[in-house]
Amino acid sequence: MLLKKMTITFRHKLTFIYFSVTLCLIFIFVSTLYLSFKGSIIKKIDRTLLAEARIAATRGITDNNADKIGKVMIKKTGNEYMQVSNIHGEISITSLKSGNLGWPVKMSLIDKAFNGAYSFDTVSFRGEPYRVLHFPVDKSSILRLGYSLQKVDGELKELRNLFFFFLPFLLITVAIFGYHMAGRTIVPVVRLTETADKIKKGNLKERIQLDSPGLEIRNLVRVFNNMLDSIQKHVEGHKRFTSDVSHEIRSPLTALKGSIEVTLRRKRKPEEYEDILKKNLFEVNRLHKISDNLLLLARADHDIIELRKSWVDINELLGLIVDRHKNKIFEKSLNVIEEYQEPVEFLSDRDLLEEALSNLFDNALKYTPDKGSIFLKTEQSFHGITVTFHDTGAGIPEKDMERVFERFYRVDKTRSRLSGGSGLGLAITKWIIETHGGHISVKNHKNGGATFTITLPVDDA
Ligand SMILES: Nc1ncnc2c1ncn2[C@@H]1O[C@H](COP(=O)(O)OP(=O)(O)OP(=O)(O)O)[C@@H](O)[C@H]1O
Ligand SMILES: [Mg+2]
Repeated sequence: MLLKKMTITFRHKLTFIYFSVTLCLIFIFVSTLYLSFKGSIIKKIDRTLLAEARIAATRGITDNNADKIGKVMIKKTGNEYMQVSNIHGEISITSLKSGNLGWPVKMSLIDKAFNGAYSFDTVSFRGEPYRVLHFPVDKSSILRLGYSLQKVDGELKELRNLFFFFLPFLLITVAIFGYHMAGRTIVPVVRLTETADKIKKGNLKERIQLDSPGLEIRNLVRVFNNMLDSIQKHVEGHKRFTSDVSHEIRSPLTALKGSIEVTLRRKRKPEEYEDILKKNLFEVNRLHKISDNLLLLARADHDIIELRKSWVDINELLGLIVDRHKNKIFEKSLNVIEEYQEPVEFLSDRDLLEEALSNLFDNALKYTPDKGSIFLKTEQSFHGITVTFHDTGAGIPEKDMERVFERFYRVDKTRSRLSGGSGLGLAITKWIIETHGGHISVKNHKNGGATFTITLPVDDA
């Protein structure tokens, strides 16, 4: 026989839990109801027995009136048994034709009645249940009064049968209810799975649409959707980055290949070769710079750059950078105005800080037209160190303001590429400044030109 292995799902387990819990609750409820119903009937019988016994005792039970009292009691209580016995166990009055024969006797309760306290007991006599009261009449005699529970038992049995008759329907209803409830509970899990499945197939824009009344589920949906937002952002950023990298590397390589192929088509004069090699060197340098920058960013991403910190005089560093670019400054007839507050020292990795400041100065040089001005300013206050680069170039369009710090982002790609730029400078600068606990921002000056401001913490970087 082939038995297919059944997979137990979370829904099955939940259904089982709902089913068991609901069934337990129903059983507890029904049992409590049944027992309290039975208890209240017995209490009522006990009250009737006691009231009759009291009346009989007050009137006094004698041989003469016993028969009459017995009949009245039998009528009122519906009992078939009453008996008066004395302290020696002799029965003076009995409603049983066969005397005391076979009637169960509990000595402890009889003794108790002779001691003046009444008590009840449930006994079985000739297969019939009875409720029996042991009641003290006077010091020398007690009254035992019985009430048949057969009718009551019959009613209770009917009640029990009714419950067991409905039990299969109840079980089926509870199972269906449990299955339905389990289904409702796992709706978010189903949606999560469906969404994750769609995402797996490449649809990163997919989000869970679920308006659940439960706060926990709403939070789960929110956290999951937020996580998807950030995954989408990362994946798209990564895709853009990869395509940018290949594009940036392909362009100079294509230019180099083309140039070499054309050059090799015929013999040339040495001056011509020199000229072509110089142009090629420009592309090779560009490739070199891109690979250096990419390497730096990759190491930064993987957190494998160890900062070698020492006290760096920022003013001296800026002076060095300006000096290194004096030819370019001269070529473009630029006016560099330096306004340094002495001394501005910062605990940092000198090479990285130099790279960050050089990038900003290089940008100012590149994007400022001939005869323009570049202002460099340092300030140190209680709040921190501020380094400002301001130029008289075209500035940065408002819409590109935040994006210039993204990798490979350039406002004017052609212009930037012609000047050897790849759009990685500001991304590297931002990373260096933030790694040192600082912050970089950009805005356009009211008189034109871009202003980059670096703020560095005073104490430790
Ligand atoms: N001072 C500035 N004035 C105007 N635009 C600027 C200035 N600095 C940066 N930009 C704009 O921001 C873009 C990004 O600058 P970034 O330094 O990252 O790249 P790049 O200078 O083009 O290339 P790289 O720095 O890698 O050589 C530039 O392409 C330019 O469009
Ligand atoms: Mg740059």
